[in-house]
Formats: sequence, structure tokens, C-alpha cells
Amino acid sequence: MNEFQRVLDADELADPGKTLVEVDGEMIALFHIGGEFFALDDVCTHDGGPLADGELVGHTIACPRHGAKFDVRSGGALTMPAVRATRAHRVKVADGGVWVAVGEPPASASIGGAAASSSSAPSTSAATEQSAASVSPSASAETPASTAAPAAPEPQPAAEVSGPLSEERVREMLKDVKDPELFVNIVDLGLIYGVTFTDAEEAGKQRVSVDMTMTSPACPAGPQLIADTKRVVSGHPEVADVEVRIVMDPPWTPERMTDEARDQLGIF
Ligand code: FES
Repeated sequence: MNEFQRVLDADELADPGKTLVEVDGEMIALFHIGGEFFALDDVCTHDGGPLADGELVGHTIACPRHGAKFDVRSGGALTMPAVRATRAHRVKVADGGVWVAVGEPPASASIGGAAASSSSAPSTSAATEQSAASVSPSASAETPASTAAPAAPEPQPAAEVSGPLSEERVREMLKDVKDPELFVNIVDLGLIYGVTFTDAEEAGKQRVSVDMTMTSPACPAGPQLIADTKRVVSGHPEVADVEVRIVMDPPWTPERMTDEARDQLGIF
């Protein structure tokens, strides 16, 4: 386990306030809230956004890139598009300074799950430090009502491919394509921007173009989602071929999700 390192004077950071510090070569987002200090990796688990640059409201920091929110006390991911906690680090206040020890194991909690956390109230006497493992996220309005990880995918029946080809039919079929990390279908996630058709050379068949976005430009699930989309839509007897166009403008935001997706992810 790494040693504590003094990162700044306790009165150096406004309350509430946040700043970026470097500890053992790692960039750490340090927060001062209600007399307590908290430290997280300066890394959003969605796509690497710099958390210290985000907006701090209460004990919640919002990633400046796509808006995922994290509980600064635990590192737990509170909202999409992040589904994994970021690391929280041990903090203590001693000798008028704030000290941080990095090196806690990476948190594995999913949305709303508890991760390692630590904090201590400023003290002018003996150092106060809490064991990261002993701290439980306190219940608050920012704590999600559900702490369950997204449910594992259940086998889905093959899409019903009868009925004439239409945008509505394609969207129904695409509900069989699920994000491999979130286990929510791409239609309810709001990833499908449009479906268009053109006549194919073969009589009675159509070429289908699906405009799809990703939750981030570097979404690792992209190739799989594209392949699954082509496979599923090709199952309709009136489809000659399928093109998937990736559209990043306008960018995806969590507001594009349906209520069904929010229910599945435990977002309220
Ligand atoms: S990088 Fe943080 S929400 Fe996308």
C-alpha cells in the first residue's frame, strides 16, 4: 500500500472546492466539502474524462465530457454513461495539511455501487484517517435508490420479422441488439437516430441505412453494435443489405434514453 503524501495545506482549498493534485505520478481529483476531503482518480470510467474539471454539486461530480456523475465519497458511478466506479483514495488531514495515499484496488462497483472511500475532517491535532474499507456511502439524495448492477442479459427470442418493412419494424428488430456493457437495447438507449430505405436491384427488396450514434466516440462496443445491427436487420425477408452510418452530431446524451432504459439501469 502506498504511503501518504502531503498534497496541499488544509486551508488552501476552498470549501466547497476541488483541485487537481499529483500523487505518485497519478493525477488525483481532490475535493473539499463540508470540512471533509475526498480523493478520486481524475478519470471518468466512461471514456477518460477529467473529473476535476467537472461541476461539483454537493457530493456529486459531473464529468465535463458526457455528463456521467460520480459520488466523490465512494467513487461510485451514479448516472450513465459511466457504469463503473472510479477509484477513491485514502485521505487524511495532519499537521495542517491534506495527505493522500493512492493505490487502493480499482473499484468494481457498477452504477450506484459502493467503492472504496475515505475522508477525514480537518484537524489541528492528531491525524485522523478512516480505513477506506470501513466507510460506507451515506444515504443521501444523491445516492441512487438502487444499488443493483445492471441485470445480466436474458436470452431473447428472435425478432419477429413478419410484417412489411418499415422504420417501426426495424426499430422493433433492433431491440434485440444490446449494449454488451449495459445490457440495454440500443433503441431504448437512444442510439438509433434514423432508418431510411432505398430500392434494391432485386425486386421487392430494400437497402436499409441505419443512422446510429455511440455513447462516446471511442465506445469500445462500437464494432459489435454495428455487426449486430446488420445481422438483425438482415433477417427481414425484404432487406437486401444493411448499411450502418455512425453519427456523432448531435452527440448522445443520457436524456435520449427511454424510461424503460432508465428503469433497467436504476436511474431515477
Ligand atoms: S468521458 Fe465521462 S461521461 Fe463520457
